[in-house]
Amino acid sequence: MKHDEPGFYLLPMDHPIAIENVRRHSSEAKCLDNIFSKEELDWVWKNAFTDDSVPRLNKNGTVIIDTDMTKVYDRYKDKILECVGEVAADTCAIGGNYFITPQQYGLHMDAMREKGYRGMLESVPLNDKQRVFTTWKNFILPLWMGVNDDEFDGGQIVFFEQRDIGWAKVYNGGNQTPGIASIYEIVTDYTDIQFYDRNGAEIPREDNAIPFDKEFHKRYLNTPYRRVQGLSAENVFDWTPGSPMVFDAVQLHATNEGSKDKNKKMWNSKMGLLMMFYKELDEDLKEEWHKEQAAM
Ligand SMILES: [Fe+2]
Repeated sequence: MKHDEPGFYLLPMDHPIAIENVRRHSSEAKCLDNIFSKEELDWVWKNAFTDDSVPRLNKNGTVIIDTDMTKVYDRYKDKILECVGEVAADTCAIGGNYFITPQQYGLHMDAMREKGYRGMLESVPLNDKQRVFTTWKNFILPLWMGVNDDEFDGGQIVFFEQRDIGWAKVYNGGNQTPGIASIYEIVTDYTDIQFYDRNGAEIPREDNAIPFDKEFHKRYLNTPYRRVQGLSAENVFDWTPGSPMVFDAVQLHATNEGSKDKNKKMWNSKMGLLMMFYKELDEDLKEEWHKEQAAM
């Protein structure tokens, strides 16, 4: 059975009405400690391999498993809603995937992919009544990690203040990282991007040129320094199995290779679950959007 695609319910990410809805529902990233037990995590990661979905393999060895998220959601609905918020139950569909990665993730943002979205418009046109949702919150549940030492150090994930309300992207400022394995659009210059903060307020574009905090970069990031120019850190969370994180779908983030004071890569591979929840347009925006749809 093919599961329901969120892309059948969304407005284009770069439409002014969508931008306004996403902006209004922004909030600070958070991490919730020890929500899932060892036994529960065991069920959740094995569930990735129980249906007939076809996984995707990236050049760098990352495996993406795109399964029906409703199975995990139905089983752990109470815990998930406790983390994301009761409103998450009103989502049009649940997006996301499982991932296994041998490598830290550089700076990126996981909203909808433009190319995938354009394809879905052929099945459900832009003026369809069900297209009244935008991206909202993403939920990441660390599941396990593989290590060499006795110590289980999954490193950290850094969430930046900057939200880029638009299509999913990898940010490779200054073109420092060659051969990025991603199906997202890659940008190398952030000068003209309008970033928003955790409260949905516009960050002045001049700030995109401010060098990143050097000390912070040294302490937490393996992503090249030039790539984070113009950004500021909002939160740093340890990547700990069982402790999920919730953040804005349009929020920039990056992971590292393990706590940097150890001076080496601490984990060999790790597996996580990404779930994406969507928000219906506010009433005033919906009214405006329906008028626009009627004129199409
Ligand atoms: Fe991500």
